[in-house]
Amino acid sequence: MNTKSTVSFASKVGAILAVAGSAVGLGNVWRFPTEAGEHGGAAFILIYVLFMLLLGVPVMVTEFVIGRHGHKDVTHSFLSMSGGRRGWKWMGLLPVVAGFLVLSYYSVVAGWTLYYAFEAGLNGFAGKDAATYAADFVSFSSHPLWPSVWMAVTVSLTCGVVALGVRRGIERGAKIMMPLLFLLILVLVGCSLSLPGAERGLRFLLQPDFSRVTGSTVLSAMGQAFFSLSVGICCLCTYACYFRRDVDLMKDGLKVASIDTLVALLSGLIIFPAVYSVPGLQPDAGPSLVFITLPNVFQQVFSGVPLLAYVFSLLFYLLLVMAALTSSISMLEMAVAYFHEEWRVSRPLSAIGVSLVCLLLGTACSLSFGVWADVKVLGLNFFDLFDFLVAKLLMPIGSLLMCVFVGWVVDEQVVRQEITNQGTLRSPLYRLWLFLVRYVAPLCILLIFANELGLFRVLFATVH
Ligand code: PFF
Repeated sequence: MNTKSTVSFASKVGAILAVAGSAVGLGNVWRFPTEAGEHGGAAFILIYVLFMLLLGVPVMVTEFVIGRHGHKDVTHSFLSMSGGRRGWKWMGLLPVVAGFLVLSYYSVVAGWTLYYAFEAGLNGFAGKDAATYAADFVSFSSHPLWPSVWMAVTVSLTCGVVALGVRRGIERGAKIMMPLLFLLILVLVGCSLSLPGAERGLRFLLQPDFSRVTGSTVLSAMGQAFFSLSVGICCLCTYACYFRRDVDLMKDGLKVASIDTLVALLSGLIIFPAVYSVPGLQPDAGPSLVFITLPNVFQQVFSGVPLLAYVFSLLFYLLLVMAALTSSISMLEMAVAYFHEEWRVSRPLSAIGVSLVCLLLGTACSLSFGVWADVKVLGLNFFDLFDFLVAKLLMPIGSLLMCVFVGWVVDEQVVRQEITNQGTLRSPLYRLWLFLVRYVAPLCILLIFANELGLFRVLFATVH
C-alpha cells in the first residue's frame, strides 16, 4: 500500500501547464472581473495582488512540498511527513470531500459556458435587444432540464481526460488547451483595446478608487486569491504528487501565480474596455456580467460588422469553455487519485463513479436557479451553499492547517530538503517563505475568520 507512485508528469513544462491549467479558470475570466467590477477596479486588484503574495503563493508552495514529498497520494504524503502521527492522515480526505463539492457547482457554470459557446456558434445572439439577453439567460438557467444536460456534457469531457491518465490525459490536455487559451486571450485583448471608449475601461482597471474599499473588499480579495490559485483544498498537493524530483517548487509556484494573475488582468482588459464602449453600461453588473451584459456588448460594439460580432462572441465563450475544462479536470482528479491510489479502483472506473456523483450533486446546484430556488440549507440554496463551503470554509481552514503542518509539525530539515531539491538548489527565498508560512499566512487567515464571525464588531461595540 505504501509503495511510491511511479506516475509523474513527463516534463517540467507539462507540470507547470497542468498546474496553471488548474489555477486559470472561470475564477480568472468570470469571477475576477465581476469582483473587480463590484469592488472598485484597481483598488481591489492591488489588495488582491497583495494577498496573492502574502497568502496564495506561500500556501501554494506548501501544497507542492507536501505532495511532492509523498509522491503517491495526499493521505500518504501527510502520513509520511508527519513522522507517523496518524491524525494528519485525515487531511487526505480533504481533497476528496472538496473535490466532490467544488466540481458539483463549478460544472454548472461550466455547462452554461458550453451552451453559450454553442449559441454563439449558431449566431444565436444576433439581433436581440438588451432586455432579451437578460430574459434569455434567466429562462435558460432556471430551466429544469437543459442546464443539467450541458453540465453533463462538460463533466463527461472532464471525465474522459482524467480517465486517460496523468500523462496521456491531464498533461496532454494542458499542453493543448493552455497555449490555445493564451492565443484566444491575446486576440480578444487586441480587439477589445481597439474599441472606441476603451480608455475608460483601462482607467477603471488601472486607477484605484479607494473610496469603494470596505471590509468586504478585503474578504473578497482574499477569497478570490485562494479560489483563483486553487489553494487550500489539496488540489495542488494532488498534482504535486506527480512532479518530478528536479522541479523547482518555489520558482514554479511564482511562475504559476504570475500566469494566473496575468490571465486575470488580461480578462479585465477584454471585458472592461468592451463594456465601457457601450454608452450607459457599467461594469458592476454582478455575475450576470458574462452571460447578460457581454453578449449584448459584443453585438452593440460591432453592430456595423456582424461577422466581427459573431467571431468575437464565439472566441470569448470558447475561451471560457477551455478555462473551465482545465480547472474541472484538476477538481475531478482530486477525488479520482484517492480512489485509484488508496482503494486500488481503476482510473477509468474511479473517474466515471466520481463524475456520476458530481452530476447528481450538480443537478441540485443547477436547480437552485429554478425550481429549487427556495430550497435552503443554512439560509443558502445548494449552489451558494457549496460555494460557501468551499471558498469561505474549506479553503481558508485547509490553508491554515497546511501552514501549521509544514511550518510547525514537519521537521524543518525535511522541508528544506524538499524546497532545495536535496540541497541542489539555492532557493534564496526559502527563509522569507518559511516566515510567511509560519506567521503571516496563519495570522491573516485567523484575522479574516474573526472578522467574518463578527468578533471585531462585538469587540468595538464593547470598547465604545
Ligand atoms: N482556480 C480555478 C479557477 O480560477 O477557476 C478554480 C479551482 C480549481 C478551485 C481547482 C479549486 C480547485 F481545486
